[in-house]
Amino acid sequence: MEVFIAGGSGAIGRCLVPMLVAQGHRVTAMTRSPDNASALRAMGADAVIADVFDAAKLIDVVTQVKPRIVIHQLTAFGETQADPLAQTIRVRGEGTRNLVEAARAAGAARLITQSISFVCSPRGTGLSDESTPLYLDAPEAVLPLVQAVEQMERLTLNTDGIEGVVLRYGWFYGPGTNYDPANSIPRSVRKGRAPIVGEGAGTYSFIHLRDAARATMQALTGAAPGIYNIVDDEPARLSEWLPVMAELLQAPPPAHLPVSDARRALGDMLVYIMNEQRGASNAKARRELGWEPEIRSWREGFKALYCSASP
Ligand SMILES: NC(=O)c1ccc[n+]([C@@H]2O[C@H](COP(=O)([O-])OP(=O)(O)OC[C@H]3O[C@@H](n4cnc5c(N)ncnc54)[C@H](OP(=O)(O)O)[C@@H]3O)[C@@H](O)[C@H]2O)c1
Repeated sequence: MEVFIAGGSGAIGRCLVPMLVAQGHRVTAMTRSPDNASALRAMGADAVIADVFDAAKLIDVVTQVKPRIVIHQLTAFGETQADPLAQTIRVRGEGTRNLVEAARAAGAARLITQSISFVCSPRGTGLSDESTPLYLDAPEAVLPLVQAVEQMERLTLNTDGIEGVVLRYGWFYGPGTNYDPANSIPRSVRKGRAPIVGEGAGTYSFIHLRDAARATMQALTGAAPGIYNIVDDEPARLSEWLPVMAELLQAPPPAHLPVSDARRALGDMLVYIMNEQRGASNAKARRELGWEPEIRSWREGFKALYCSASP
């Protein structure tokens, strides 16, 4: 099948592109950078250079490819020249609008969009599922991200003539993510700078990149339009997983930081993530996508990721 992927050079894209190529799909990947274009070609994809904010050029490149499937893996959390959160909000809003318009103009049949499982309302008990409302009454620091996710999902699911599939991935870990042993989170943990905020009640649903990419492969044809949580089987509170990670990294046990201090030092977004977010259930994806995680728990995934890593 002809597949166009926006974001093929990102953390999940680098895992997904080789899987698409190995299954015999003709893959065109979009990037803004000549270096990333070369890397994408080395994986067996065609590469096109375009910026998602250049709407006219985007329509041009996507209509030339005429893909049956468009995959949206764009975020800007790795941005170094601008505020990553603000850029990601723009990518998810304006960027999605442009990509949907280009997909429609090119006659694509299906759009598969990367979303996140961790901005559902934290009110209520137990895990969230795909019918749990997004956190649209979130505090000011969190709300713009939730609104951008809502807009991105609405555009994906409600465009005439296109089957929309939204994959709400959990927290990515694995090579090239923030949880990579060389990257920011393990670095902070090693320095004793990653505290448990309040009760550490924020419940994380993790997903290894490879399992996220495998679910995306299933969604190419095997998914009815709609939303699917792509998370592992063991949601865990910060208070549970952070000490395990510290031990695997041979780092000091995490300190505790009261919520009021954390609001001042880290801001409301991190307090939401570390002390309030709700975990998500993967029951629908297991039932309807025919997918299940190979790495069922972050416990085994973290062990594999950190045990061989040198400090
Ligand atoms: N669910 C999650 O936990 C989650 C989700 C997303 C990201 N993250 C984390 O955030 C960190 C950074 O993510 P990442 O490595 O995927 O990088 P990223 O900076 O978020 O970029 C992702 C992709 O979007 C593309 N992109 C961004 N802005 C674009 C624009 N204006 N026009 C065209 N393409 C654009 C990038 O392409 P080029 O740069 O090649 O142009 C890249 O392919 C990683 O640690 C990752 O794990 C986590």
